[in-house]
This record gives sequence, structure tokens and C-alpha cells, in this order.
Amino acid sequence: MILLVTGGAGFIGSNFIHYWLKNHADDRIVNLDTLTYAGHLESLKDISDNPNYQFIKGDITNPEDVKRAMDGVDIIVHFAAESHVDRSIVDPLTFVRTNVLGTALLLNTALDLGVKRFHHVSTDEVYGELGPDDPPFTEETLYAPRTPYAASKAGSDHLVRAYFETYGLPITISNCANNYGFFHDPEKLIPRFITNLLEGKKVPLMGKGENIREWLHVEDHASAIDFVLQKGEIGETYLIEGEEKTNMEITKMLLEILGLDESMIEFVGHRLGHDFRYAINGEKLRSLGWERKHSLAEDLSKVVLWYKTNEWWWKPLKEGRPNIDRNAQKSYKQSL
Ligand SMILES: NC(=O)c1ccc[n+]([C@@H]2O[C@H](COP(=O)([O-])OP(=O)(O)OC[C@H]3O[C@@H](n4cnc5c(N)ncnc54)[C@H](O)[C@@H]3O)[C@@H](O)[C@H]2O)c1
Repeated sequence: MILLVTGGAGFIGSNFIHYWLKNHADDRIVNLDTLTYAGHLESLKDISDNPNYQFIKGDITNPEDVKRAMDGVDIIVHFAAESHVDRSIVDPLTFVRTNVLGTALLLNTALDLGVKRFHHVSTDEVYGELGPDDPPFTEETLYAPRTPYAASKAGSDHLVRAYFETYGLPITISNCANNYGFFHDPEKLIPRFITNLLEGKKVPLMGKGENIREWLHVEDHASAIDFVLQKGEIGETYLIEGEEKTNMEITKMLLEILGLDESMIEFVGHRLGHDFRYAINGEKLRSLGWERKHSLAEDLSKVVLWYKTNEWWWKPLKEGRPNIDRNAQKSYKQSL
């Protein structure tokens, strides 16, 4: 079987490729990635000369790149996206282009070429935010995205469903919680906090750290997608749950692992449109027999150790990268 993985040089895509080649050694993987600031071929160094792995540098918004990469492919697992909420606040149009237009072009080409399955990877952020006592999201929750990132992912989800309803393209969708694991870009919360602490710097915690997220180990995410590809029903959406924690709880876990105290926390302002809480009811997928194998209690320290021993991977990514000015869009609006 031949799989096309889009965005395979990113955090989840690269972990998914490692997972797939380990668990389905006879399959072939084509990785289509344009290598934005978030694409790191170093994450795939170990398998770069595996004869069952092929990298194509190309853009999902470019028809020729997409056609070339999709030729002869059985299954598409679509990760490629602009994925950082802070960046979407500063530069929303890039998110619309990649996440909406790029997904539309992939769907159209998949239909033309008769691809057997199009699996779309999405986020719980499409459902908006929850209050402290609201029930968790289910597959029936209405979409209510509140950031340009979440809105662009919601747009892509709607297109994927529309290609199933209108044209019968065999699709499945998964929406999941925040991921953690190895090869996670240091601009995201957990790796940013770990690498800051390893460098002796404070960690910037928004508000009082009261915002709540669910955390899913990236290998559990990969195994859930594998499960959906095998047992999921065409046209269906599956939510993949993680473990619910406040950002303060995550910060304290990291401080404890590293033997540091709360003086290493620097409280900073909330981002624009900062969602208070996401939570997922993953019963639909669990009832089919999928379960998580990892836990923060056991795996967060392994992730910290990975960053300790793999400075070669993350140090060059932090050096020379400007901080994102989350107020840029706000000051632009104020100047109108
Ligand atoms: N990271 C999370 O916690 C999380 C949670 C839920 C859902 N998701 C979704 O999972 C997917 C992967 O997330 P991630 O964290 O690995 O993202 P990432 O930002 O680490 O990686 C994205 C990858 O896509 C590539 N890419 C971007 N634009 C492209 C284009 N136009 N053409 C080809 N490739 C392009 C980048 O080069 C990069 O390799 C995304 O769709 C994201 O919305 C992520």
C-alpha cells in the first residue's frame, strides 16, 4: 500500500511516519512537505534512506506538486497546515491559503485520481471554547471557532465533509487534543517551556495559567489514526481525547521534573481570543476498541529527557528566530 502523508516534516507528521514504518514495514510512504519554518527534515534523519520512504518538496496549494505526489497513492493522511495560533493572529491569510485552499486542492485531486481514502487531521479548536462546567466536545458539537487558525481548520473540515456528501469521496476526519512528544517545535508550549528551562530562562505563562487543555501523546495520536483507517466508517468524524490539565499544572509538572521552583514562571498577558478550555469526550473511538497507551505522569519526563539529549535538534530552531509579536494585529486594528 502507498500512503501520501502531507506535512510529514512537521511535528505530528514526522512522528506518524516513524510510527507507520515501524508498524507497517511493507507499506510505502510519500511525504509531501513544502518545508515552512515548521518543517524539519532532521526529524526524519533516521529513515531518510529507507527504500519505502520518499520525500517530495512541494506545496499543497500547487496543483502540479499535488498531482505528482498523489500519483499511484492509495491513502492520504493530511497533516500539512499552518498550525500555530499566535502566528494566525498576526498573519491570518496564510492560514486560509494553506489550510483551506490547500485542503480543497488535495480533495479535488484525490477525487480526480480515485484515491481510496482521504483521512483529514484536524483539531478540537474548531469547536471553540468551553466554560469550567460545560460537558466536553463530542462529534455532534456545533462548530464555533474563535481564532483564525481554528476557523481555517473548521473551513477545511467542512470541505472534507462536502466532498464526501457531494461527490462520495471516501473520507474520514479526526479532531484531537493538543499533542506532546519528541520533535515538537520549540515555539509550542511544552517544548518552549522545557527548552527555556534547560537554557536557564523563565517560562512565559499566559494569565494565571488557568486555561485548560487536553494533552495527547503524539504516538497515541498516530495509533488512533491507524485505527480509524482500519476500523473507522467512511464519512465519519472521530474525536481523539487526551488528559485534561490547566497550563499551570503542566508548568508545575515540568518544574518538578527539572527540580526547579515557581520563581521560573513569568506571567504574561493572554493572547487575543485565548480560548479558556478544550475538552473531548472520546467515547465514539473508545467504543470501537481504541485506547491511549501513554500518560503525562509517565511520558512527560521522557519528553524532557529527549530535549536534554537532543539539543542538536532544537537549539538551531530557537537561535535567530524572532519572537512572535502577538499584538501586531491588535495595533494594526487600532491604527485604522
Ligand atoms: N500540534 C497539535 O497539538 C495539534 C493538535 C490537533 C490537531 N493538529 C493538526 O495536526 C496537523 C499537524 O500539526 P503539527 O503540529 O504537526 O504542525 P506543524 O506546524 O509542526 O507541521 C506542519 C507541517 O506542514 C508543512 N506545510 C505547511 N504548509 C504547507 C504547504 N502549503 N504545503 C506542504 N506542506 C506544508 C510544514 O512545512 C510542516 O512540516 C495540522 O493539521 C494541525 O492542525 C495539531
